[in-house]
Amino acid sequence: MEEPLGDAAANPAADASPGRRGFVANLVMVVAGALGFGGLAARFLQYLYPVVPPEQVVEVPAGARDAISAGGGAVLTLPVGKIALVESKGELRAFSAVCTHLGCIVRWEVGMEHLYCACHGGMFDRDGQVVGGPPPRPLARYPVEVREGQVYVKVKVRPPVVGA
Ligand code: FES
Repeated sequence: MEEPLGDAAANPAADASPGRRGFVANLVMVVAGALGFGGLAARFLQYLYPVVPPEQVVEVPAGARDAISAGGGAVLTLPVGKIALVESKGELRAFSAVCTHLGCIVRWEVGMEHLYCACHGGMFDRDGQVVGGPPPRPLARYPVEVREGQVYVKVKVRPPVVGA
């Protein structure tokens, strides 16, 4: 009488010892876990130590010189933000129009001859210095140039982080 064929005869793969199969399964889990944890750790390190690109100085056109009358001023919306232009004794000055108190946008007040922040009554003179209200610091001043009747303002900007 013949003996019945066991699993080993029907399926050679079933002959692999449970110890070897368990080792391979554990190895796959360890490798997958290491890859997953490594990716997570890399993202966490990016969060802790972000790559911040350095600031760059860009020159932006700010319209015709004639647009600012003698002794006048204006706040312009440029691609780099709001810029205040003020004329004083033939010299053109450029400032950030962001109030140094809480960040509202200042405007040129013709009657007061100052840059005025309507949020809390901050006032800045033609040099960007605080002359009234709560702002703690003068306005940030930017280099300005006039070439062939056009005004150019040089502003520091930080390029956006790509792939963040
Ligand atoms: S934000 Fe300008 S005075 Fe407060």
